[in-house]
Amino acid sequence: MAKPLLEVRDLQKHFAIGGSFFGRRRALVKAVDGISFTINAGETLGLVGESGCGKTTTSKLVLAAEAPTGGTIEFEGRAVAALRGAELQDYRRKVQVVFQDPYSSLSPRMRVGEIIGEPIKAHERLSSADVRARVAQLLELVGFRPDVARLFPHEFSGGQRQRLAIARALSTSARLVVLDEPVSALDVSIRAHIISLLEEIQQRLAVSYLFIAHDLAAVAHLSQRTAVMYLGKIVEVAESLELCAKPLHPYTKALFAASLPSHPDELREEIVLTGEVPSAVDPPRGCHFHPRCPFVMPRCAEHEPPLVELAAGHSVACHLY
Ligand SMILES: Nc1ncnc2c1ncn2[C@@H]1O[C@H](COP(=O)(O)OP(=O)(O)OP(=O)(O)O)[C@@H](O)[C@H]1O
Ligand code: SF4
Ligand SMILES: [Mg+2]
Repeated sequence: MAKPLLEVRDLQKHFAIGGSFFGRRRALVKAVDGISFTINAGETLGLVGESGCGKTTTSKLVLAAEAPTGGTIEFEGRAVAALRGAELQDYRRKVQVVFQDPYSSLSPRMRVGEIIGEPIKAHERLSSADVRARVAQLLELVGFRPDVARLFPHEFSGGQRQRLAIARALSTSARLVVLDEPVSALDVSIRAHIISLLEEIQQRLAVSYLFIAHDLAAVAHLSQRTAVMYLGKIVEVAESLELCAKPLHPYTKALFAASLPSHPDELREEIVLTGEVPSAVDPPRGCHFHPRCPFVMPRCAEHEPPLVELAAGHSVACHLY
């Protein structure tokens, strides 16, 4: 089998917080605490979990915007931490991002043509005419007429701005685009449109996505495989169809129940998520989910369950299995 485009192994990001007066130990936020996953060329991996479970920290690590405190990221078979100079530039060209908020992610003082053209100029030696032609192609790819290049972001709606952000992410021929909650800030009515645009673009360009969101049903719809994250750990990962048909981890079942509120499904009666995600500063011992789990057993509070592959490609970290 071909090597994955991106391979993340035992990735960690711990933040030290608070002062260190009088020898008091600084607290550690274990935002990402030993996660592993792969993304193949042309594939979408979904990453889902409640607020604060470490999704954005994971995306910053993948984007090389933050350095990990442990573990490795390999892209096209090369360790990202070892990349310097032109090679690091090339990584940044190939791995791009679309953020949640299209109002703050596009510079208000730049025209659309500059916003999309700037990364092209930064990474490639092209004439101004060639940059303009590339910008026109990208605008058409996301459903605009090329003459919108002279407009400013404030002249667009939220959904239109997100289409511009997608065009910018693709402007340097990215191979992987991190989509960090790309539709969460948009009106429900335009979410489906943006999702189908992303699918269409993937079919045309064979680009890979790391698609991050809260809503498990939405993530599973766009992604071939989905990883479920809870307090810095991956607790379940499977092909999305399998995960939807046979969710195993109680947290995955609860996320499904929450994301399909009108579904009179047995899952809904079985598990309803209550309480907040505990703090990542001092996570619960054993299985991090145990204070909220309806199936909790004595050993869950003592021993952390390892992520075990139960069927081909379907892994879960829970003492029930
Ligand atoms: N720079 C930082 N310093 C200290 N703690 C941080 C830092 N960045 C993130 N954290 C903490 O790490 C944890 C994970 O945060 P992260 O933003 O990755 O979560 P998330 O899953 O993206 O949440 P959301 O769904 O709200 O976007 C949180 O507890 C957060 O407070
Ligand atoms: S390990 Fe125990 S507490 Fe954790 S999800 Fe499984 S049953 Fe629940
Ligand atoms: Mg986030």
